[in-house]
Amino acid sequence: MPRLLSEKNLVLIGMMGSGKSTCARILAQELDHTLVDLDTLIIQRTGCPISSIFAQRGEAFFRQLEADAVREQAQRTNLVIATGGGTVLRPENVRALRATGFVVWLDRPSEEIFRDESLRDRPLAQNGPAAFQALALARRPLYQQAAHAVVRDFSSPQATVQAILHRWQDFLER
Ligand code: S3P
Repeated sequence: MPRLLSEKNLVLIGMMGSGKSTCARILAQELDHTLVDLDTLIIQRTGCPISSIFAQRGEAFFRQLEADAVREQAQRTNLVIATGGGTVLRPENVRALRATGFVVWLDRPSEEIFRDESLRDRPLAQNGPAAFQALALARRPLYQQAAHAVVRDFSSPQATVQAILHRWQDFLER
């Protein structure tokens, strides 16, 4: 894979548990970009786990912190950004991320996520598999519209990363 000549941010979107944070960590190293994980940034800033923010201040408060973080990080370059599963809910987040970044949707099947991943810390994944699947289904059009490219290889984090890099290369050469 030739080195990518782009200062654009690489932005990963998709459901919780789809592998955004893991892949972003590997990609940041491979590309020598700075890693920004929006959830981690919010945890660092508030000193609270996401589940406590939801429990004590509510989802709307969390979404505002998330939107503030997006607005600020989208102004930077040379980042790999792992978003939260719900970052695409606000159109202004999507606009900002797309303006300075290449946005890739990790479209991992929700049944597989629910079966294989620990979703203990995710407040919006505590209502069983059917509710999780319904949430994933409702969000599909948002992910679709936000993404420049989609990846569906989840055989290993390394395979997903390679698929992301190929999509980006294709996009830059178009
Ligand atoms: C959320 C996903 C979480 C986190 C919060 C809300 C969502 O991020 O931002 O719990 O609405 O899907 P991950 O996708 O990194 O789990």
